[in-house]
Amino acid sequence: MINCYENKNEKTVNEHPSDSLCCESSIPFPPIEVERPNTSYANLLYDAYASSGNSELQAITQYIYHHETIENERVSQALMCIAIVEMKHLDALAGLITKLGCKPAFFNSNKSWFYTGELAYIDNVNCCKNTECGKNYDHLCQKIKADILGEKAAIKNYKALLCQIGDMKVRKVIEKIISDEEVHVYIFKRILEDCCDPCYYTK
Ligand SMILES: [Fe+2]
Repeated sequence: MINCYENKNEKTVNEHPSDSLCCESSIPFPPIEVERPNTSYANLLYDAYASSGNSELQAITQYIYHHETIENERVSQALMCIAIVEMKHLDALAGLITKLGCKPAFFNSNKSWFYTGELAYIDNVNCCKNTECGKNYDHLCQKIKADILGEKAAIKNYKALLCQIGDMKVRKVIEKIISDEEVHVYIFKRILEDCCDPCYYTK
């Protein structure tokens, strides 16, 4: 059996393989490089990296929760795929923060540690049995709508970073990440159209 742990010639996720997943843009990941160390730029990236709201780490945890709690198989699988792409973003930002001269610790630019209390769980997370939670009560539409809002906020924040960061190599990575987030908005909107009442996608 070939696997990337025992066979060093196999590509791993860390190498950002050029073959795209079906839930990311066709733009290849640029090299994770910087023009020169700059800790001010690193500090700007912490909010996109691991703040408790609208960061890559927050998106990963939220999408895995939605993946596990939504019963529709196609929607659940799409969420898992998107969570994996967000992990690539997390890793890319970790690499940039390191090369800019800081540590990729999971806090925001004010050094507040990441916590998951701000996730858009939507559900009553304290109910454990179907009798308490309600059958088929997975809040698919509310979850996907929250996911769209998160992606749109992320795109806005990354565009603001492009106004503040002059390092062309860092900017290329941010532009790639924005292109992926735009694909995610498209996928989530298609899910709303397919699965939800028009009031969820015409507003
Ligand atoms: Fe992302």
